[in-house]
Amino acid sequence: MKIGIYPGSFDPVTNGHMDIIERASKVVDKLIVSVLMNPRKNTGLFTIDERIDMLKECTIHLSNVEIDSFSGLLVDYAKYKEASIIVRGLRAVMDLELEMQMAQINKNMSPEVETVFLVTQAKYSFLSSSAVKELALFHGDFDDLVPHFVRNKLKDKYK
Ligand code: PNS
Repeated sequence: MKIGIYPGSFDPVTNGHMDIIERASKVVDKLIVSVLMNPRKNTGLFTIDERIDMLKECTIHLSNVEIDSFSGLLVDYAKYKEASIIVRGLRAVMDLELEMQMAQINKNMSPEVETVFLVTQAKYSFLSSSAVKELALFHGDFDDLVPHFVRNKLKDKYK
């Protein structure tokens, strides 16, 4: 069974993430979407549990997608989950440098795990969780950028 991991901060999950999740779920047998519990970056808007809940709600229609969280090295977590593929989305050239560095570091540590990049649909190439949070903070329109469930959670946060 081919198991893939799609790791990230997901603070919160956007339609760009959803696009990657839906497409990645078609190329692996099981996709584990996993939220990083980052001790260096715990300044998120949503708690890890809130991010997990939103991801669970938004992926309820995808039977081979599992939601989890991890800390420590991604390659150690991949080994623990018996995953052979790390999935990452590429929005634009600006993502490439950091993504290549992460993929190469991970490859160096764990040659048996492949990083696979999916190119985001053009309509989501500008989209990030940070941009969505800023729009929500200043009451801009972000309705088309996140799943409905997430939209309501964001509105609650900034009420
Ligand atoms: O959504 P993000 O914040 O771009 O995701 C970044 C993530 C979670 C993929 C990255 O920070 C990560 O893999 N962290 C785990 C620590 C690790 O394995 N570091 C070595 C690779 S640089």
